[in-house]
Amino acid sequence: MGKIKSLEELMKIKEEALKNVKMREAGKRGKIVVAMGTCGIAAGAKDTLKAVVETLDELNIDDIAVVQSGCMGLCEVEPTIEVALEGEEPIIYGRVTPENAKRIIKSHIVDGELVSDLIVKRGEV
Ligand code: FES
Repeated sequence: MGKIKSLEELMKIKEEALKNVKMREAGKRGKIVVAMGTCGIAAGAKDTLKAVVETLDELNIDDIAVVQSGCMGLCEVEPTIEVALEGEEPIIYGRVTPENAKRIIKSHIVDGELVSDLIVKRGEV
């Protein structure tokens, strides 16, 4: 990219970038938030994140965003993930091993059925 010469040019670039972000967000019907706080990482959250990304890929699901967050304050049930689908109450799942991550994606995201034995919280954290 060349040198930005004016404020006007800078604003234009910013506007374009915002438009792109909005478009990307608009194309998604939900997100999976993986808690990557210290406890989460110690409990294996990196493997969970990897399993989430790989499973979405395997199932050709590209309308779910994957986001990392800090601590959700749920140490005893880490690794945790939040599944937030458009128009639905967000669900926090705990003890999300890579196997459980697969189960959650197949059941909650593909079939629309909550995995009740892994739910630790409903609603915003
Ligand atoms: S301190 Fe954040 S999950 Fe334990």
